[in-house]
Amino acid sequence: MKIAMLGSGFIARFYAESLHAQRRKDFVYTVYSRNIDNAKRFAADYKLQHCTDDMEEAISHPEVEVVLISLPNHLHEIAVEACAKYKKHVLCTKPLGRTAAEAKRMLQLVEDAGIFGGYMEDLCYTPKFLKSVASIRQGSIGRVLWTKSRETHPGPHSDWFWDKEKSGGGAIIDLGCHCVEISRNFIGKSVKPLEVMCWADTQVHPIEAEDHAIGLVKYASGAIGQFEVSWTFRGGMDLRDEVMGSEGTIWINNFLRTGFEMFSTGKGTGYVAEKTEVNSGWLFPVGDESHELGYPNMFTDMFDAIETNRQPLESFYDGYVVNAILDAAFISAKSKKWEPIQLDIWRGDETTTAQHESISYDNDYFLIKEEILPNGDQKLILKNKLTGEVIQKVSEKISETN
Ligand SMILES: NC(=O)c1ccc[n+]([C@@H]2O[C@H](COP(=O)([O-])OP(=O)(O)OC[C@H]3O[C@@H](n4cnc5c(N)ncnc54)[C@H](O)[C@@H]3O)[C@@H](O)[C@H]2O)c1
Repeated sequence: MKIAMLGSGFIARFYAESLHAQRRKDFVYTVYSRNIDNAKRFAADYKLQHCTDDMEEAISHPEVEVVLISLPNHLHEIAVEACAKYKKHVLCTKPLGRTAAEAKRMLQLVEDAGIFGGYMEDLCYTPKFLKSVASIRQGSIGRVLWTKSRETHPGPHSDWFWDKEKSGGGAIIDLGCHCVEISRNFIGKSVKPLEVMCWADTQVHPIEAEDHAIGLVKYASGAIGQFEVSWTFRGGMDLRDEVMGSEGTIWINNFLRTGFEMFSTGKGTGYVAEKTEVNSGWLFPVGDESHELGYPNMFTDMFDAIETNRQPLESFYDGYVVNAILDAAFISAKSKKWEPIQLDIWRGDETTTAQHESISYDNDYFLIKEEILPNGDQKLILKNKLTGEVIQKVSEKISETN
């Protein structure tokens, strides 16, 4: 498919690198940048056939079938409007909107126009993430009880991110959108998110928005999704996820210290990895950043979905749900209370309730816990089904000589 790239900055280059690597059949045909010199440079770097400083010209170009929005957050809606007008399929980077109201309008625009709306949440396509979700769906870790997703780094690279009006917020909107969607996938996207408790502060930078936040999202299944986001972290980009289930645990480290370590005295000026702050001493490069961040898997899903007329794993609807959760996080950070998530559109399950099933040990007792002690004895902790009394039973280790 032939693509129009809107924007020629940081993420546009990441997307173009992924699309033009590995002999893919979908390629960027034209690029729009408000500065024609930047458009020309981008077009030359990726050998594009066309470039322009007119956004509508790029979208309406007769060769263009799909539009990739790689513009600052405050321009996503305007770009989606133009895609709907010219009936071009659209893939939008994260966050979909600055607010749920904005995201909802974008969702309605693509649905009314009958065009495809893909939400480019790359971190839900990393190799480790996809395998983790598959293990969870197969039941390997039982019922999901708690998920934790962290994205922290020393702060973004362009002026507009730091301007609350243009970005819609600080670390919560920029990084929380990733973490919230990661947790939704682990917990199950049909499970309704109910309420949010969030702490946020501006600890370091002279800005209006928050540069650090921690939040808890409560789901209808009883699961808790925790997000930890910061623009104050020093030492690179930390992308880690954890899932605790009734039968197991998953820990994923996507980026920092993932098994590739290099020492340099600082000679040379080589790029190490995204948001790395230094290039001397012990360094932690990333082999194939694009792949580790999920871009190739994401594009494969998006273009396959367009071709076969199905929904992608991450759609505009998902982007809208994420924005609704983040809206509640902003309200909670101010009120210091649990705040309900306002979902005018909910397409998931309405009947899920928190489960607390007890494991029966025998006719009289529930099993609380069993454990082998250091001396080899087995200990059982049991609860009487009628009286609620908690007792323990110890069976001595059977001697190996017996
Ligand atoms: N992992 C990810 O998925 C990821 C990572 C980084 C950024 N992003 C998202 O990508 C989008 C762009 O971020 P970026 O990091 O590429 O930013 P950037 O500043 O590097 O690039 C933004 C592009 O938009 C252009 N631009 C800025 N203001 C404009 C205006 N008023 N009119 C027209 N063009 C304008 C810039 O010239 C540049 O080409 C944001 O929504 C951001 O959240 C996603």
